[in-house]
Amino acid sequence: MNIPQQGLSKEEILNTLQAFKTRDMDWKAGKVWCYVYNPGEDPAEVTREAYLSYLTENGLDPSVFPSLLKVETDVVRAVLNLLHGDSHAVGHLTTGGTESIMLAVKTARDKARAEHPEITQPEMVLPKTAHAAFHKAAHYLSVKPVIVDIDPATFKVRAEDLRAAVTSNTILLVASAPSYSQGVLDPIEEIGRIAQEKDLLFHVDACVGGLHLSFMRKLGYDVPDFDFRVPGVTSISTDLHKYGYAAKGCSAILYRSKNIRKFQIFACTDTTGYTLINPTMLSSKTGGPMAGAWAVLNFLGEEGYKTIVREVQEATKKLINGVEAIEGLRVLGEPVMCMFSFKSDTINVYQLADEMNQRGWYIQGQFSTPLTPRNLHISVNQGTMHNVDALLKDLAECVEMLKSKTPIDSEGIKAMVSAALQGPDPEAAFGQLAASAGLAGTELPSEMAFINEVLDTLPDELCNVFLVNYFNDLYV
Ligand SMILES: Cc1ncc(COP(=O)(O)O)c(C=O)c1O
Repeated sequence: MNIPQQGLSKEEILNTLQAFKTRDMDWKAGKVWCYVYNPGEDPAEVTREAYLSYLTENGLDPSVFPSLLKVETDVVRAVLNLLHGDSHAVGHLTTGGTESIMLAVKTARDKARAEHPEITQPEMVLPKTAHAAFHKAAHYLSVKPVIVDIDPATFKVRAEDLRAAVTSNTILLVASAPSYSQGVLDPIEEIGRIAQEKDLLFHVDACVGGLHLSFMRKLGYDVPDFDFRVPGVTSISTDLHKYGYAAKGCSAILYRSKNIRKFQIFACTDTTGYTLINPTMLSSKTGGPMAGAWAVLNFLGEEGYKTIVREVQEATKKLINGVEAIEGLRVLGEPVMCMFSFKSDTINVYQLADEMNQRGWYIQGQFSTPLTPRNLHISVNQGTMHNVDALLKDLAECVEMLKSKTPIDSEGIKAMVSAALQGPDPEAAFGQLAASAGLAGTELPSEMAFINEVLDTLPDELCNVFLVNYFNDLYV
């Protein structure tokens, strides 16, 4: 578009923006089983109003907007209390799990730089199931990710494998509570002992689990310790915008003490401009997400969260049992809360995701790794839990239907990919292959199964190059 010569009316603008959404998946009807965490109408309304009431205030400078200092420290303290941080524990609000994780890695890197200058090539040890945000942090911050394979039966890392990966360059250990992919909890206590023994920082990624698991424990569910109660845990990331049901743009990065957190904060007086002090990545930032989080915590209260968590867990149990009862589908590992994944040995799961998509459902495909099968992921939350029966019915019908449909020619695709890889210009050859599958230019593909099949066959490095090129074309 061009900026119009004359501005448009409010009505025209809002109607047009609304019209853009026609191809979006219907999250409001609870048909999207990831990405959106909907607390229900009333809490969402309060969150929205609180968010908008702080839309313009800038979190850059607490001396100008002390209200935001109050809002942020209130939310951080509330989450710290939930996660058993003592009076020395501190934290900040960030824009999301990725920022929280990147800050945890930056803090570890800069602490090591100050205290262990002999480490010139810092490493962090993380399970294969750790979120990609750690790889992004590694990439941005020049910290080497040392990846430890998981137990293929439980999808958890074995603490001893993690210990074996520690070297004199290690600056940080990582575990998930739980991992997103299979929703299982790593052995946090055992890893905490290793961290203490080796005097290492240990970050627990509780982006999805921080609030939900804490309330499960309060309700009496059997959830092992995963938070600051575990000796050796030095930092935790917990997203308010996931199972805290806040609006997007809010996560907490928490540290056991100020002595660690100080390496996160950046200050600069080296310019002709204003003094810059940034505890997090952003400088100017809207107060909206923080106010939204403050509002939803106070609106739902402990009882509100407990009710949601109880109902979501009941729905999850029903869903997991229902998936297991569909012939050909198998849930992976033992999910600790309300997210899980399942595989199939009889049908192509990417085709299943496409069939479900035709019926208005969004279920996320996940690629295979040498130790884990390709699978589909489901996160249950307040906004989707009412749809368990409908989802199961469609899943069963689609699985049945796929049994008689021609499957994607996996072997043929493998052969094509392998031919492309052996040619003179694998990147170009693969680009053509993907284009023929509908993944090129500025249009979004309508079906993903063939593309997923191709991507799943590719070596990770080439797959990543391809995806970068694809996004480079997709956006202006
Ligand atoms: C375990 C875990 N960590 C980190 C993240 C990254 O969070 P965000 O998408 O808010 O950046 C996610 C996202 O789903 C996650 O599941």
